[in-house]
Amino acid sequence: MPAIEIKKNVYWVGATDWDIRNFHGPSYHTNKGTTYNAYLVIDEKITLIDIVDVHFVDEMIENIKQIIDPSKIDYVVVNHVEPDHSGGFPKLMEYIPNAKVFCSKNGKDAMKHHYFGDYEYEIVKTGDVIVLGEKTVKFIEAPMLHWPDSMFSYIEELSLLMPNDAFGQHLASSKIFDDENDMCEVMEEAKKYYANILMPFSPLVVKKIEEIIKMELKIEMIAPSHGIIWRSHPDKIIEKYMEWGQGKVKRKAVVVYDTMWNSTERMARKIVDGLISEGVEVRLYKVSESDMNNIITETLDSKAILVASSTINNTMIPHLAHFLEELMGLKPRNKIGASFGSYGWGRGAVANIEKKLKETGIELVKKGLEIKYVPTDEDLRNCFEYGKEIGKLI
Ligand code: FEO
Repeated sequence: MPAIEIKKNVYWVGATDWDIRNFHGPSYHTNKGTTYNAYLVIDEKITLIDIVDVHFVDEMIENIKQIIDPSKIDYVVVNHVEPDHSGGFPKLMEYIPNAKVFCSKNGKDAMKHHYFGDYEYEIVKTGDVIVLGEKTVKFIEAPMLHWPDSMFSYIEELSLLMPNDAFGQHLASSKIFDDENDMCEVMEEAKKYYANILMPFSPLVVKKIEEIIKMELKIEMIAPSHGIIWRSHPDKIIEKYMEWGQGKVKRKAVVVYDTMWNSTERMARKIVDGLISEGVEVRLYKVSESDMNNIITETLDSKAILVASSTINNTMIPHLAHFLEELMGLKPRNKIGASFGSYGWGRGAVANIEKKLKETGIELVKKGLEIKYVPTDEDLRNCFEYGKEIGKLI
């Protein structure tokens, strides 16, 4: 994609990764690709804010060449060291070995551990400002959004916030602004991104937004490092981040199960009917047939998470263990939960699921429901009631 002017004398010079389907290993399925956004600010001091993944550095340099000779860049701002944003750094620096590189204290440490060379780093902290000419860049440290080194850059004269990973989405599109895309799709990808990447840092997200509000920064545009730029709806994504960060939930339940001979599946379907009878919105997932990231996304605004498995070898079906491990790391907040499942000659799945849910901080609101071998009509009626009772608690 060619360079695009996003504000007067500020150009998107990043790269679009249409093909990527697994982001940083297999933990995030980027079904719609992603972008690595880098921004070139033209002023007396020509400044590049963020870089791109190593595989796309030539594309970024070609984009820069459409605007200026890359050797004319004076400053480089590294808002975040993760290689999707800094991987192209060594190649870029071949053009500008003497450029000043601005980053946080943790950023400098991480850069030295990634790229080893002798570069001219300058550490900046919250409130520090560099003057580019007509424009200035103010820095706001944002540790853990997404790594300890992360920071935001803000161009006051343009009311432009460049928060790197925050407010991003893994979404490749030939149209780079929110109002040029289907907003439902953009929001859905932003939600998936938040749930699967930023959920564990929710208290920090809330604190950071409060800090920005206190700083009275005027924000007309948010240009993150992944996906679509918020030109028309920056307020909407800030509002959503506040909701997600605060753990706001709906009358909604996610039911995640796996099954050997369909007994647990039949239980799940009756429990879902019981939940629905109480007006609860429900999403049902057979974990071995589902995309893990989509399940996690649906948990973000759900009050309840119900997890079910047949017992195999005195424990749960391994796919469920994967899901629960993933969920535990993401530290969901403000959730209730329960477990159920069928067993044969020995139990174990429900107890082990309950243990994991508790360790995740999910409040168990009902004793686990277990059924031997195949549910009878009465068992299924009990399942319906079980779902109904949880529905009342949601
Ligand atoms: Fe997009 Fe934390 O890297």
